[in-house]
Amino acid sequence: MSNNSQEFSKLGFVLSAAGSAIGLGNIWRLPAQVAQYGGGTYLFVYFAICLTFGLSVLLAEFAIGRYFGENYFNRSKEVLAENNKPKAWYAGLVLSHVTPIIILSFYFVVCGWVLYYFFGSLFGQVSYNATVGTPSYYEGVFVGLIGNFKLVYALVIVFIVATAAINYRGVTAGIEKANFLLLPLLFIILVVMIIRSLTLPGAGAGVAYIFSIDFSVINKELIIAALKQSFFSLSIGSGIMIAFSSASGKTMHLRNTAIYTVALGAGVGLFTSLLIVPAVFAFGYDLNGGPALTFMTLPNIFANLPFGFVLASLFFLVMLMAALTSTISLYEVPTQLFSKVFNLSRQKVVLWLIVLFVAITFVQTASFSFLSNLSIGKLGIFDFSANLTDLMLVIFGLVSCIFATWLVAGKYIKNEVSSNGLYNVETTNYKLWYYFTKFVAPVILTVLIFLVVQSLF
Ligand code: TRP
Repeated sequence: MSNNSQEFSKLGFVLSAAGSAIGLGNIWRLPAQVAQYGGGTYLFVYFAICLTFGLSVLLAEFAIGRYFGENYFNRSKEVLAENNKPKAWYAGLVLSHVTPIIILSFYFVVCGWVLYYFFGSLFGQVSYNATVGTPSYYEGVFVGLIGNFKLVYALVIVFIVATAAINYRGVTAGIEKANFLLLPLLFIILVVMIIRSLTLPGAGAGVAYIFSIDFSVINKELIIAALKQSFFSLSIGSGIMIAFSSASGKTMHLRNTAIYTVALGAGVGLFTSLLIVPAVFAFGYDLNGGPALTFMTLPNIFANLPFGFVLASLFFLVMLMAALTSTISLYEVPTQLFSKVFNLSRQKVVLWLIVLFVAITFVQTASFSFLSNLSIGKLGIFDFSANLTDLMLVIFGLVSCIFATWLVAGKYIKNEVSSNGLYNVETTNYKLWYYFTKFVAPVILTVLIFLVVQSLF
């Protein structure tokens, strides 16, 4: 089994799980939400959810993924039948694999924007000259870009093809190798950027903001936002962690890998907040949420620093690498779904998915220009897709918990988490995880799902 080329190495598995977690969600979404929901309090709730529900769901997905094994769709069906459990749960597993298709429909569009900012910063289409670089200049750049359908769509297609080219090669030769290369580089650049940000005069106020916690501002909206963010940024509830662990070796330490993944995923969120928030405070800009923070406020800061275009290029390079390690993981989910359920070759599926994504990103990209009137309910299709998939992640995260604790017998799960007795699971921590995942998580997640649905109307 260990000579199977489609099986992750131990480090490769950690890096790929972390690479999936670390993405635009941590760099773009989290700092914007920290800004919107008032700093340290939001981060505190976000970390608390990552360490409880996040870790619990992640380990549940690792355990069932490896228990079901390489042909996990078929195997899950068999296990349900053997245990006399309703077949409908199988549908839950299949549907969970649809979420990444919808996520990618808008994620690729942001990737296209980032691609523009990276090359534009490097080659001068986006200026960081202190006299040119005013807030209205950067607003003009961003608004002009997203409305330029042809340009963005071309860049989106470049990103789709780059992702497909990696996935075409498979889990080990493609995904694992890309993560080996990209993640260490990402960390190095990130640390350099943080040092630059923290040494700006006046950065201290931003650091204080990130670490100040005020329990009185915690409300329903904040908790829901942090919940959605934690599922998205840890890539849980989407099938990817099940797919990855179904391709992991039998001696892989699942609990530790889950802990590393949460630490790296949530840790990068702290890093990027430390990079962005203090710099914004140092310049006395508004700490605004949404895309403006990354695509307008930050460039404006770079324009005021020596070698601004270098810093900007590095920052957008980090975003590109983080985005790519996430798109390859997202792309892998429908690849698994179609190749396993319909018994097709991986290569064929990867190529057909290019067609699918080129088609659906057309609509998402155009929703910023000639299809800007398109809406579902009170939301545009971009925001609608983001909200819908956030909800789906939480629902299918709940399904994973139920699979691991109600549908598969406890002894098998114990076997997986202990890697067949290699690691000790006769501990309080194991019981704590198991009962949390079996009773506490399902109840609380169900309540939260209702709240999320309610917040949509
Ligand atoms: N976690 C990634 C981010 O923060 C996005 C991502 C990659 C993802 N794979 C996923 C989100 C699977 C949900 C499900 O940007």
